[in-house]
Amino acid sequence: MYGEQELLRAMEEIAKECGAIIKGAKEEHVAATEKTNFRDLVTSYDVKVQKYAVDELKRRFPDASFFCEEGDDRGNLSDEYVFVIDPIDGTANFSRHMNISCVSIGCFRLGRPYAGVVYDPYNDELYSAVRGGGARLNGRAISVTDEALEHTLVMIGTSPYNPELFDRTMEKLGYVFPKCLDVRRRGAAALDLCTVAAGRSGLFFEEILALWDYAAGLVILEEAGGEAYTMEGDPLPLDGRKSNIVAGSPRCIEESGLLSDRFK
Ligand code: IPD
Ligand code: CA
Ligand code: CA
Repeated sequence: MYGEQELLRAMEEIAKECGAIIKGAKEEHVAATEKTNFRDLVTSYDVKVQKYAVDELKRRFPDASFFCEEGDDRGNLSDEYVFVIDPIDGTANFSRHMNISCVSIGCFRLGRPYAGVVYDPYNDELYSAVRGGGARLNGRAISVTDEALEHTLVMIGTSPYNPELFDRTMEKLGYVFPKCLDVRRRGAAALDLCTVAAGRSGLFFEEILALWDYAAGLVILEEAGGEAYTMEGDPLPLDGRKSNIVAGSPRCIEESGLLSDRFK
């Protein structure tokens, strides 16, 4: 068993190093190649950052398993410690020099999300949480907003790798837009979850996400007083299946009506 602070500090240090690699990327070296389709991209930096994070976590926590986006490192999620890693969340942004990307490192313990660290190197913002310990942004406690939905910005994801889901996204967007301050689409789901956790946005939804997109952000969000569900109102799957997601403050989720029968 590892100490909770030792684990969190190590994840934070490693995420910051990953962020330095991301921010220091040379423009001529971020050329992307396609994975499953023309929108699903990978760069040499996704691979490099993941390798750094995995090597460093293995060195410090030799018994841990891994569940990572790039390659085939998909360990058993019910192991005692499993690191769930998205080396660059927002790869399309990264490959277009948009400066909206982050590294996301989650840790499952015996099958449950236990700790999460998300680092945005462009704004030098480090979000972190361990189960039961509250959520922090650069060491400061954060919490979701208590404002009404109409006073908050809503973040959406467009599920770019599954274009068949786009109409559903637009239907929900059309339903929520009149009830909120405005809508944002930034292109990095882990950062979207943390943006809700920090109270900067009241709600986030997307039709499909992978575990590495939300493993870290989920702990941070919940420790900040937020909630996340599937669009059917169930808890998010923790077995590695992809899922749709509605995440926000309890008030904004309720006021959005996204979990009402209308969308079942
Ligand atoms: C993607 C981003 C994007 C979201 C996609 C994710 P990636 O992750 O988070 O915002 O819309 O669903 O897959 O591929 O850049 O790591
Ligand atoms: Ca991602
Ligand atoms: Ca990624």
